[in-house]
Amino acid sequence: EKMPTPFDAIGVETLHLIVEKFYHRVGQHPDLAPIFPSDLTETARKQKQFLTQYLGGPPLYTSEHGHPMLRARHMPFEITETRARAWLLCMKEAMDEVGLVGQVREDFYSRLFLTAQHMINTSENEL
Ligand code: HEM
Repeated sequence: EKMPTPFDAIGVETLHLIVEKFYHRVGQHPDLAPIFPSDLTETARKQKQFLTQYLGGPPLYTSEHGHPMLRARHMPFEITETRARAWLLCMKEAMDEVGLVGQVREDFYSRLFLTAQHMINTSENEL
């Protein structure tokens, strides 16, 4: 028997809802909106695929787009510590909104925190 993954524990409906709520906030956030496309439909679709595999579900992102190479894919954008903090705040609020609580939330958020730090590619005083 396979161990349940965090993807199983969260559930696909809740994960998709988190992503929808998250991009709704991103699109309204003054530090984030300027670097994102105005139509976030495709961005949200890719993020659902990515987070599915990140949480141990089927490799939907890689099947369609190849290796994530996340840091490289973020290089066209100036990702500062301020933007990473804003990204994480939108995610925390999205988790609150859908009522994701408990260990599975803490583990998911901790991983996102580390991944977000890894995406930072611009220091504030370069801007
Ligand atoms: C794409 C910003 C962190 C996963 C993007 C895009 C931007 C962006 C501007 C392009 C959107 C588009 O053109 O559709 C940021 C900022 C972050 C951050 C400011 C702050 C640290 C993260 C983290 C993850 C992530 C932590 C994963 C856990 C993705 C994925 C894509 C993406 C999967 C789609 C890549 C593709 O085009 O195939 N991000 N991101 N990002 N981001 Fe982030």
